[in-house]
Amino acid sequence: MTERPQSPARYHSVAIVLHWLLVGLLVYQFALGLRLDELKGGDKFVAFQLHKSIGITVLLLSLARLALRLFVPRPAEFGEGAQKLAARLVHWGFYAVMLLGPLSGWIIVSTAKIKLPTMLFGVVPWPHLPLPVAFNAPADLAHTVLVWSLPALILLHVAGVLYHWRLRDEVPGRMFAAGLAGLSGIGAGLVWLGASAGLGFAGPLPNLWAVSPAPAPIAPLLPEPAASESADAASAEPAPTESAAGAETALSCDWTVESGSRLGFATQYGGTAINGTFRKWQARIKFCADDLPHASIAATVNLASAATGDPDRDENLHGASFFDAAQFAQARFTASGFKLLGPGRYAAGGSLSLHGVNRPVRVVFTLVQSGAKATAQGTATLSRLAFGVGSDEWAATDQIPDSVTVQFTIRATRAN
Ligand code: HEM
Ligand code: HEM
Repeated sequence: MTERPQSPARYHSVAIVLHWLLVGLLVYQFALGLRLDELKGGDKFVAFQLHKSIGITVLLLSLARLALRLFVPRPAEFGEGAQKLAARLVHWGFYAVMLLGPLSGWIIVSTAKIKLPTMLFGVVPWPHLPLPVAFNAPADLAHTVLVWSLPALILLHVAGVLYHWRLRDEVPGRMFAAGLAGLSGIGAGLVWLGASAGLGFAGPLPNLWAVSPAPAPIAPLLPEPAASESADAASAEPAPTESAAGAETALSCDWTVESGSRLGFATQYGGTAINGTFRKWQARIKFCADDLPHASIAATVNLASAATGDPDRDENLHGASFFDAAQFAQARFTASGFKLLGPGRYAAGGSLSLHGVNRPVRVVFTLVQSGAKATAQGTATLSRLAFGVGSDEWAATDQIPDSVTVQFTIRATRAN
């Protein structure tokens, strides 16, 4: 029962609309795909989100198109033997690209080591497939092979259509609205194809994601109480406050870190800002503004407590490619050598031990004191690669810059 009774003269109007919509999207998508590599920073992020959004749209529209193909009567197949086989191969080749192309792309982004969330057209969150990282490389290869067969299929397909036009048979008119039969339809189709390619290669990238690469939520921070170190306290000079609160005499230079403090870091992935926090850390602080030579900070940070708002990304961050928290559970920072830079502004030379590497790190901060309370806010900039954080492909700095900013806000109370 291969013959279809009463084959229609042309494709169903919905099939025709879907054919031309998919021509535009596929060709645009292919051109955009070729552009992904050369783009940088925010443009790259936008282009990737656009590529994912259009690719998933292609997948959904192609499923609708396949359903029509299977369940709605279409014009009878044309020609005999090799000609018929060639047409079938090209058409099914197209279906393979339209379905497996996007699917392989979806697998690539679902199995990437750092998974960026997909927000279709900046609006619809799209899930990742639950597949292991081992699927990444084969999917990447499959994506390349599938999408590169698209131009070849198009060439064969258009050659076939032109062949039928030369034979003056009815085939070229079957995929166009009634008024567009013949050369005008084919011409319009080719112009549409060329315009989609041009737009994909060089068109503007509509930034629908201006607000969606949301900064990761800042986790509430509960620093573990700092052990008070009082050995030097007796010899320390009294600390004048920077507020006008009045004279204080013979006060301790030890400070206890309070909740509401935050230790975080800022980096980027493919142009998207990533803000992380350490949920567990502790610090011993000894500081009297008029005795800077004896001021010191000793902090320990639990690296497995780093959180960036994405559990998959965090797992990768704690893993062997980055912090390797299983082997190097803690980072240690000690600082002394405090200097006054200006009113309420200080710098301290310190040493950071991270990931088995010990290197100098300079911290700059502002300090506001009010009675027994003080708030210090500061930053340090460090090279992650100097600490060996980010190995293999993460050692490249085109996606994740080398420079990482550590930011802290420490609220502390003077120990009695
Ligand atoms: C039919 C739809 C699609 C077409 C025609 C297409 C086309 C392309 C092209 C031409 C490239 C550059 C490939 C290369 O030169 O190696 C590319 C790369 C890429 N595409 Fe697609 N794509 C499609 C769907 C998708 C979808 C749905 C996703 C994800 C949800 C996706 C994710 C990617 C990724 C992550 C890359 C970069 C791969 C790499 O770095 O090697 N693509 N795509
Ligand atoms: C990305 C580019 C294109 C894709 C993916 C594509 C895909 C397809 C597919 C899958 C079919 C078979 C319909 C079916 O049986 O389900 C088809 C038919 C057709 N396409 Fe395309 N096409 C593309 C570009 C073009 C262009 C540029 C033209 C004309 C200039 C064209 C003209 C036609 C015509 C006339 C038919 C009907 C053939 C027949 O009745 O046997 N297509 N196309």
